Amino acid sequence: MPLRPPDIVRAAYAELVVTDLAEARRFYVDLLGFAVSAESDTALYLRGYDELIHHNLILRAGSRPAAARLAYRVRTAADLDLAEAFFAALGSRTARVPAGVTPGVGEAVRAEDPLGFTVEFFFEADYAERLQQRYDLRRGAEPARLDHFNIVVSDVRAAYEYYTSLGFGLSETIEDDQALYAAWMFRKQTVHDTAFTGGEGPRLHHLGFFTHESHQVLRICDILGALHREAQIERGPGRHGVSNAFYVYLRDPDGHRVEFYTSDYYTGDPGHPVLRWSVRDPRRRDFWGHPVVPSWYNEASTVLDLDGQPRPLLAREQTTEQAAEVGADGFTRLPVPGAMIRFDHN
Ligand SMILES: [Fe+2]
Repeated sequence: MPLRPPDIVRAAYAELVVTDLAEARRFYVDLLGFAVSAESDTALYLRGYDELIHHNLILRAGSRPAAARLAYRVRTAADLDLAEAFFAALGSRTARVPAGVTPGVGEAVRAEDPLGFTVEFFFEADYAERLQQRYDLRRGAEPARLDHFNIVVSDVRAAYEYYTSLGFGLSETIEDDQALYAAWMFRKQTVHDTAFTGGEGPRLHHLGFFTHESHQVLRICDILGALHREAQIERGPGRHGVSNAFYVYLRDPDGHRVEFYTSDYYTGDPGHPVLRWSVRDPRRRDFWGHPVVPSWYNEASTVLDLDGQPRPLLAREQTTEQAAEVGADGFTRLPVPGAMIRFDHN
């Protein structure tokens, strides 16, 4: 009998290790436009303009770039006990973190999850001023809030099954008759809180931040171009097939990938249909059929265990035939015959 999972509200924040905090501050605060909730000599606590909780992103100074943890907010304090029991039953290492260890966050439970990621669950959080109508402060991409984590996993189906056991719903997939190549899963009522990209894992693929309007996605590209930082615009702007998001992917000074996007959709009704994209549909990754740059598939951030040590990588579960046929889920345009999407119900 599987244990009852904690009631997860949403993806709330991530902690990234950066090698030059001043340079990271210039990128995330001065250029991208994040609001600073708190800072010290060794860390920055940032949030979007709509955000109520203390932070969506911690940037911590360290010797090597890495993703230290992915944090989810849970609905009640009792969900911390459920989280601890859930992961203990899976054989995962867990740790209780007292309130205040992370500024603005109450007691937390951390776990090394079955996919190899350090995940955190917290209930109590200090509320910050919501800056939604402080138009005088807005700049850069005008990030509103953290929306999702995208993680690289060696076995997408195993990741799907584990997140299903954690109570997540499935919104969209990329698949064929043989394999599940990618999946988007949610707790809050949007397309996702967490998505999986197939590859050598565990690694963090990107953090997705929501903006309200497409011009904010375009504006950050113009700003980076004007500053001759065009190399930091990795992919896009474009329209995703999956999720319908209007997006751009940027690389920070340490190579961490951040996405700014707008216009996904509501998924909160019971029996919400799953949108399944054929891996041969050129529109799945970019609705206009633009090829995906190889770095977007190949490069991602190292993740750390509970002790702050890098996690070893597992090779992707993919046959040579699949790799040859779909090119690791498509570096380029692919033949269209047979490409179609269909709706299934959970
Ligand atoms: Fe994303």
